[in-house]
Amino acid sequence: MIKAAEAGAAVMKSYFEGNFTISNKEGINNLVTEADHASEKAIFDVIRADYPDHYLLSEEAGEIVMDSEYKWIIDPIDGTVNFANGIPLCCVSIGLEKDGKMILGAVYNPFINEFFFAQHGFGATLNSKIIHVSEEADLMSACLVTGFPYTYLETPNGPLEIFAKLIRKGIPVRRLGSAAMDLCWVAAGRFDGFYEHKLSAWDSAAGFLIVEEAGGKITDYKGDYYSPYQPHILATNGKIHDDLLAVINNKKQL
Ligand code: IPD
Ligand code: CA
Ligand code: CA
Repeated sequence: MIKAAEAGAAVMKSYFEGNFTISNKEGINNLVTEADHASEKAIFDVIRADYPDHYLLSEEAGEIVMDSEYKWIIDPIDGTVNFANGIPLCCVSIGLEKDGKMILGAVYNPFINEFFFAQHGFGATLNSKIIHVSEEADLMSACLVTGFPYTYLETPNGPLEIFAKLIRKGIPVRRLGSAAMDLCWVAAGRFDGFYEHKLSAWDSAAGFLIVEEAGGKITDYKGDYYSPYQPHILATNGKIHDDLLAVINNKKQL
């Protein structure tokens, strides 16, 4: 996994300052670049060299279904809009499931040289040093991060309403543009919580395990144990979890 993340990140970096083709996917400004495909290929090549019969799920290639207990869940560039604009907040994200349970996760941003890694039951690391979530217990003093879907969902109590509620009360809510990094930065204690309304499995597979192994809590918006195969995510240090969940569900006034 480490070799695969390094290979993808090296390709991403090699494209960063040069010219690359950019095209649009579903929604507005939901971009895919030549570098996304090239990074994905480099990651696949490393994995397939050792594990040719493993199942692959990757953002650009889709599902490569294999009869295997192992499934690699790959985002070849998380933060593509940042990447396409020359903003070095983007990374490679790779999770590995065994029998439907996440057992390994790696998130690598080569621009700021941050490699996050977790193995189930063994803790989470940033550049090989153990990391922990923050200790902040008061939502009013928390520093949060979120993201917005490419296709804005016109649902009541949607992402912009929740964002407004928090911001109006003076709670800082950042928006980095990479869900994998958002999760890792919760794991490292930089943010106290992260929520987003519409993620895909490749955005969160690795980061979800990294937060959990760093002592954090991750649920869906019902408060149930998180699955990367549904859209909602709330990942926190655990201490502000219930309060933030109540705000998201409109059950608590700030
Ligand atoms: C996106 C980023 C972004 C999040 C979007 C994701 P992409 O992934 O993680 O932060 O808000 O929901 O789709 O398209 O850059 O791989
Ligand atoms: Ca992504
Ligand atoms: Ca991506």
